[in-house]
Amino acid sequence: MCGIVGYVGPRNAAPILLEGLRRLEYRGYDSAGIAILTGGGDVFIEKKAGKLTNLTDHLNGDAPAGHPGIGHTRWATHGLPNDANAHPHTDCSGKLALIHNGIIENYAELKVRLIADGHRFTSETDTEVLAHLIETRYVGDLVEAVRAALNEVRGAYAIGVMHTEHPDRIVGARMNVPLIVGLGSGEGFLASDVPAILEHTKNVVILQEGDIADVTPGGTRIVTLDGSEVLRDVTEIHWTMDAAEKGGFAHFTLKEIYEQPHAIQECLRGRVDPSGKVHLPELDGIEERLRDIDRVYVVGCGTASYAAQVAAYLVQDWVGIPASMQIGSEMRYSPPPINARTLVIGVSQSGETADTLAPLKLAEERGALVVVVTNVVGSAISREADAVCYLQAGPEIAVASTKAFVTQVLVLQMVALHLARLRETLSENRLRTFGQALRSLPRLAAETLQLAPQIKKLALRHANVRDFIFIGRGVGFPIAMEGALKLKELSYVHAEGYAAGELKHGPIALLDPQTPLVAIATKGAIYEKVVSNVAEARARSAPVIAIATAGDEQIDRYAQDVLYVPETPEQVSPVIAVLPLQLFAYEVAVARGTDVDQPRNLAKSVTVE
Ligand code: AGP
Repeated sequence: MCGIVGYVGPRNAAPILLEGLRRLEYRGYDSAGIAILTGGGDVFIEKKAGKLTNLTDHLNGDAPAGHPGIGHTRWATHGLPNDANAHPHTDCSGKLALIHNGIIENYAELKVRLIADGHRFTSETDTEVLAHLIETRYVGDLVEAVRAALNEVRGAYAIGVMHTEHPDRIVGARMNVPLIVGLGSGEGFLASDVPAILEHTKNVVILQEGDIADVTPGGTRIVTLDGSEVLRDVTEIHWTMDAAEKGGFAHFTLKEIYEQPHAIQECLRGRVDPSGKVHLPELDGIEERLRDIDRVYVVGCGTASYAAQVAAYLVQDWVGIPASMQIGSEMRYSPPPINARTLVIGVSQSGETADTLAPLKLAEERGALVVVVTNVVGSAISREADAVCYLQAGPEIAVASTKAFVTQVLVLQMVALHLARLRETLSENRLRTFGQALRSLPRLAAETLQLAPQIKKLALRHANVRDFIFIGRGVGFPIAMEGALKLKELSYVHAEGYAAGELKHGPIALLDPQTPLVAIATKGAIYEKVVSNVAEARARSAPVIAIATAGDEQIDRYAQDVLYVPETPEQVSPVIAVLPLQLFAYEVAVARGTDVDQPRNLAKSVTVE
């Protein structure tokens, strides 16, 4: 949801900002803009609707020299995605420029007041009120003006502010939206996310809610909304530039699909020993409460909700207590019963999804035990939790989630096994069998990705299909939904995922020779039932693509195309079964010529409700 970047220091800001925006474009691409303090002491602003290339083409390498500067890439909330609504926005004097990620909830009432006081607005955005509000508070001290103005707003924000009277300063602030400060030598940065500034510094300060950062070439001072000065830890980033780059792949999506064997390996590190014993050290501090819980809710949105659904099946199967998936945006407004014996597990790659954060806050207020599973160290979600389990998957840049999904499922499998061990609900033997199966996943994932040439041919044959139906049962059901979502997101083709047994209760009416059925038919306790559902589809002349277990000789009687994946225990299989579906969605998208890494209308991190 919008990317922001800022630079203060001796270098020309424009190239640093434009490169930073390129790396943040996954956060939104409805418009892009920059503001730079020129040598003449004016603020130069250029902004263009559409992707960053519209701005860079327009600038054509001719952005003026100067510093400091701020830049923004937008995912529209208030106001159309046009030039006028693009950030940066200015105050009436034109001396102050501001960028913003988030939503100012009380912007309408503030705007009425500011207009009555004579302020002139040039956009329909909520953001512009911030520029004018800071202007009303400004008497020479920019940090103080920002602080006073922010005390009047409600909502979520990460902002970057610059002012012609402060040529050696940019001011950043955050509330419920991520913002980091990069500490360079004789220079400073603001950014929504690490990749934007990684080539300049590996030392960052992750700002906390209500922090206001005064970033100057000499260092950064942080005050809170009440004006008190605070010290924040400096975090050293261990990612390489390579991890934030495409590394020879045509798209980040494809790179991240192929990174999965390594991501799985990293995710397992320190959590499953060679004997197959699963132990998450992150859960040590809450062991007593974990022994006592009597129900589990696993919360997430989109892809994360499908990982959560796999987890709910596994907790019921392995731990024997009621467990269900909760869609974040629903749980907040119709919460299920929650008390001190409830475990709520929040799942979010970005750790910033507003729809997931809100029910976790609610769970915390009601005394539940809260564990979160996220990829981003220091993200907002980690502050809602009694314990945090990181995916350890490395940065996921592509908007469509692939390696984060697989590692979310893996962490949740480990959480379920950890619980089963603590509560002695599985025998030692079964615990080790599953632990060993997890340890073999990096190798099996690499093997599965070798299906790529077969999948590419299959995708080319299906590139013009209008509708797909995906089915699965048990842990295969969320995989069917994830396969359908990947296809929708990446290729804009209509696809729906159903519980296989539900097919005959309605969706079967959609099947015809032009509507393929994709069946998750890997070996498991209810394999025969899935095969029956596949047979029902074949009887209606639907072409069938099956994901099946290597060695299965029955399935090709019903399926025209079979993608054979290596055998794993059913409970572990989602990590492997989803891989061919990711590749299929990717190849269909490439064949159809869609914008694979940045699908239309989407954003990587959804920080609004
Ligand atoms: C995944 O491909 C999607 N783009 C989307 O469903 C995503 O998983 C969802 O918005 C949740 O994001 P999070 O994991 O960062 O909370």
